[in-house]
Amino acid sequence: MSSTTNPGTSSKPQSPEAPSEVEISVVRTESELPNGVQRPSLVRFFHETMKPYEDLPKDIDRALDYAFSTEEGKGGFLVVGTRKDELVSALLMLDTGMGGYVPSNLLLFVATSPDLRGQGIGRKVCERAIAECDGPVKLHVEYDNPAKRLYERLGFTTKYAEMRLAR
Ligand SMILES: CC(C)(COP(=O)(O)OP(=O)(O)OC[C@H]1O[C@@H](n2cnc3c(N)ncnc32)[C@H](O)[C@@H]1OP(=O)(O)O)[C@@H](O)C(=O)NCCC(=O)NCCS
Repeated sequence: MSSTTNPGTSSKPQSPEAPSEVEISVVRTESELPNGVQRPSLVRFFHETMKPYEDLPKDIDRALDYAFSTEEGKGGFLVVGTRKDELVSALLMLDTGMGGYVPSNLLLFVATSPDLRGQGIGRKVCERAIAECDGPVKLHVEYDNPAKRLYERLGFTTKYAEMRLAR
């Protein structure tokens, strides 16, 4: 049996799929989470993708509670980067409620999927987050974390030494 060719279909070889754009959105309540992103997968994403600087899932969950809280002195927001409904980057910003003493915004977590790093997604997510909040932004980063360079490029500087009493 001979195969038939449909003259309507092109015989051109298929080109590799073009990389689709990452969609960046700001989420202030849990109900605003985009398609394909649920809270447990978000917690898992931060926990897995922040490695080796990750926090425990229960602490990430607590930070999300704080960000989505409507209580006085709490709040914040999430910036998520998705591609075809898949979470590829996320950032959590908390409102410290302490503007005047310490910066009113704390950039707590930011992460991009390992296979998509170095393509400018993290920078875009950070820029969107910075544009979204009023006042100065504070963050902690280990001296040896390559993310420090990204923060410096965004204009972050080190003004104070952070000191801890380990107990
Ligand atoms: C930090 C992070 C969010 C940057 O995301 P990204 O999408 O790669 O960011 P960009 O592509 O916009 O910027 C890349 C910059 O991040 C830095 N970077 C950090 N880790 C990197 C990695 N594994 N690959 C490439 N760049 C990395 C580089 O210095 C690079 O700067 P350059 O352009 O001057 O070389 C990402 O590396 C990550 O998820 N790291 C693990 C989690 C983490 O450490 N978060 C910060 C905690 S304080």
